[in-house]
Amino acid sequence: MRTIISAAEMKAAGQAERAAGRSVGLVPTMGALHDGHLSLVRACRERADVVVVSLFVNPIQFGPNEDFTRYPRDLERDAGLLREAGAHILFAPEAAEMYPAGFRTRVEIEGLQDKLCGASRPGHFRGVCTVVLKLFHLVEPAVAVFGQKDAQQAIILKRMTRDLDLGLVIDVRPIVRETDGLAMSSRNAYLSPKERAAALVLSRALGEVRAAVRQGTLDAAVLKARMASILAAEPLARVDYAAIVDPEGLDPVAEVRAGDLVALAVHIGRTRLIDNWVVDSKG
Ligand code: PAJ
Repeated sequence: MRTIISAAEMKAAGQAERAAGRSVGLVPTMGALHDGHLSLVRACRERADVVVVSLFVNPIQFGPNEDFTRYPRDLERDAGLLREAGAHILFAPEAAEMYPAGFRTRVEIEGLQDKLCGASRPGHFRGVCTVVLKLFHLVEPAVAVFGQKDAQQAIILKRMTRDLDLGLVIDVRPIVRETDGLAMSSRNAYLSPKERAAALVLSRALGEVRAAVRQGTLDAAVLKARMASILAAEPLARVDYAAIVDPEGLDPVAEVRAGDLVALAVHIGRTRLIDNWVVDSKG
């Protein structure tokens, strides 16, 4: 595996691979890798000859009071995991390489960026779209692989890809969970043992909704009330949102249908966790 830190070198490497007739795939990450990220790397290997993994803790997608400075960073450990998982190129630029002095451009996906996570994290998706579009232009992948864990992010990036005719495939892969159901996340490392136990309330609430939907309860108000009561019973949990929305516009639905997104954001202590279930999916 080759590690690249310069944007120009990344661009040239992608061009060389394509010139040699090899297809390029991209897995964007912020590092602190876990099996969720590695599942995307493996998926990318199935879809492209050359797998590029970007590792960049993107400053412009963090709010002023968020965890940018304390976000876990361990490049050596991550590089080892990526090598084992079969990545070919690790692209790990410094912030000044991605945002040199004078950088002013931002990418906005109107409407979608302000809902769900966007409501409590203003500017977050603007930062995500800006960095991901830059990565797409630097790497020029035929396929880019993202996780369903960040459902709104995947929906917004698909929209951006269509709207701007980027001409690449966005492949969204299932949420990888710990054995007890907690969705894997780099932020799980922040949880104390007590909080780690309390964090199970997210997957439990989604599991209850899934069971209710499968028993025929389709009234979103009833399902949301059930989620709210489960979440309210956990003293360490403070709900940001518990929503049931359509997957195109991310607007609340009255009655759930296949494909709708049941999405949660919950603070457990100081840590904000998200999880979701797509109605009728197996997960
Ligand atoms: P990060 O949080 O590092 O996540 C990188 C990718 O891994 C995302 O596509 C995310 O959805 C996926 N992922 C995280 N946890 C997962 C899990 N448990 N199962 C499956 N996939 C999972 O998302 C970002 O970084 C950034 O916003 C980024 C897209 C890199 C732009 O900066």
